[in-house]
Amino acid sequence: MHYTTIRYEVEDGVATITLDRPDVLNAMNGAMRQELTACFTGLVTDDDVRVILLTGAGGRAFSAGADVRDFVEPQAPTRHRETRRRVEFRQVMDRCPQPIIAAIRGYALGGGLELALACDIRIAADDAQLGLTEINLAIIPGGGGTQRLPRLIGRGKALEMILTGMRVRGDEAFRLGIVERVVPAAEVLSAARELAHTLASKAPIALRYAKEAVVKGLELPLADGLRIEQDLSTLLRTTEDRLEGARAFLEKRRPKWTGR
Ligand code: COA
Repeated sequence: MHYTTIRYEVEDGVATITLDRPDVLNAMNGAMRQELTACFTGLVTDDDVRVILLTGAGGRAFSAGADVRDFVEPQAPTRHRETRRRVEFRQVMDRCPQPIIAAIRGYALGGGLELALACDIRIAADDAQLGLTEINLAIIPGGGGTQRLPRLIGRGKALEMILTGMRVRGDEAFRLGIVERVVPAAEVLSAARELAHTLASKAPIALRYAKEAVVKGLELPLADGLRIEQDLSTLLRTTEDRLEGARAFLEKRRPKWTGR
């Protein structure tokens, strides 16, 4: 598929999606939402892609959020709802079995931070600027921010950020638990790529099931989550890769995974 607002590349099992509207700090318009939705929809069933890396072109921003130029027209609520329903890329991301890594340089504001929050692991530059700034435009986060941020950092701090629209630096975001790693800006992409390739080198089915157990389990009471863990770990006992992993260990060599 040909994209105009994002770039999509696959190398060694790692798919890199780059938000590519640097002139407007990678703000999201309708075309970008459609392309992200199509791209993630394809990834849900793509077994060749083991890890997804998401970043922003240009270095000044991951994404400055929704394209504010779309806000100056009045919107009919039903039309808005129906249009958004077709481009719920963040919900499609939730269905992706692959780990998704966000590499955040510069601004991740509004929908841009919500996109990062829909990823599994976030690596940010120490001087990145993160915030759910919607309140300053008389709206609230509509891409999962009011739900995902408090689940990550707790109710009080999430409310403080959402109600004030404040921005935090990458190093502060790390301290708060919004991002999992913080590095100098020049190292964000290489750190994210290194992590992506490390994950892509793991046994493919185990990698997916590990994510599934954590993500599904978090939505459930502990006993049900433990049941999912048991079921998935039992299933993994049937793979060829499990035998290969044990043999390679005993033979003191690197395992060769087949994904079966
Ligand atoms: N939508 C549309 N255009 C945007 C944008 C957005 N969300 N964010 C930035 N841009 C555009 C600017 O209009 C500007 O375009 P121009 O060169 O044609 O004037 C360009 O990107 C560069 O941004 P600029 O504001 O000049 O850079 P800055 O360094 O002074 O400020 C921000 C950067 C991110 C602080 C500022 O652009 C901003 O506050 N953006 C809006 C963020 C926001 O509210 N997002 C949530 C939307 S719900």
